[in-house]
Amino acid sequence: MLHEEEWQEVASELPHYEDARALSLDALKAVQRRRGWVDDQALADCAEALGMSVAEMEGVATFYNLVFRQPVGRHVVLVCDSISCWICGYDCMREHLQHKLGIELGETTDDDRFTLLPVNCLGACDSAPAMMIDGELHRDLTPERIDAILGRYE
Ligand code: FES
Repeated sequence: MLHEEEWQEVASELPHYEDARALSLDALKAVQRRRGWVDDQALADCAEALGMSVAEMEGVATFYNLVFRQPVGRHVVLVCDSISCWICGYDCMREHLQHKLGIELGETTDDDRFTLLPVNCLGACDSAPAMMIDGELHRDLTPERIDAILGRYE
């Protein structure tokens, strides 16, 4: 069952849509905001709440790569691997992040502090390379800037 707070986020938008399924991503995001990720039961609950099949909701969840279907750390580091960042030093930044965090792409640190994921263009091509942590964009990355930025996230 969805938590009251999660359901209220979705329910408040329902009057604006003819088809409740239009809120499928919103429902998943509401769950993820509160729980950090979307487990199978939560996904099924979202589906039931919006009159969808579990398969339909799974299709939505897997289409959007920022719906997390596995547990993630307290902070999710999205490092851009698209063309501008790639040209401007992505490999070096990725290697530094992996070394600093002691994990590979797709992994979470042992203390559950960080999950490191690749992502497509973050829209900061003019100040590449870039990464995003918990929705906060960080531009013009260097190894030194990465160290300072990571230190802000406990
Ligand atoms: Fe990295 Fe656009 S290519 S922000």
